[in-house]
Amino acid sequence: MAVLDILVYPDPRLKQISKPVEHFDEALRSFIRDLEETMRAGPGSVGLAAPQVGRLERIVIVDVSCKPKIKHHGRRVLINPEISWRKGSAVGREGCRSVPDYTGNVARSKFITVRAQDEFGRALELQMERYEARAVQHEMDHLDGLLLFDRLVSRRDLFRRQSQEALLPKPKPL
Ligand code: NI
Repeated sequence: MAVLDILVYPDPRLKQISKPVEHFDEALRSFIRDLEETMRAGPGSVGLAAPQVGRLERIVIVDVSCKPKIKHHGRRVLINPEISWRKGSAVGREGCRSVPDYTGNVARSKFITVRAQDEFGRALELQMERYEARAVQHEMDHLDGLLLFDRLVSRRDLFRRQSQEALLPKPKPL
C-alpha cells in the first residue's frame, strides 16, 4: 500500500471528466487500497476521489464515521456512482485537500439515493442524509471536474484558511 500524492488546484487534471470503471480486477482493488490509505493519511479527511490522485476514473471513497452522532454507512467505496433521487437543500462549509488554502459554503441536497458499484462490481443502492450525503456529493463533483469554487453559494462564501504561518507572531518591521 502507498500514500499517493494529492493534486492541488490549479492542476488541470482536477478539471477533467473522469471515465467509468469497466474492469473490476485486482489492479482496481489495489488502487482502492492506496486511495483509502491516502484518505486516512489526511487529518479529519472523510472522503477522496480518484482524480484527486491523478487517476481519471469514476471512483470515490467516503467514510464519515469519525463524526459523532450522525447517520452513516461506514467506509464506502462508490464506483460509477449516480444520484437517482434527491430532496431538500442545505448550505454547509466544505473543505477539500485539493484546495488546501480555502473553505467555502456550498448548497447540497440534504437527502439522496446513490446507486453505485463496489470494488467487486456488485450493484449497491444507499440512502444517505446530511453530512454523509454532502460528503458523497462533494466527492462525486470531483468526477466531473468540479471544485469548491464552482459550487459556492456566492462569491462572498469563499474563506481563506488560516495558515500555520499566519498564526505565528508577525516579524517586527525593520
Ligand atoms: Ni474535495
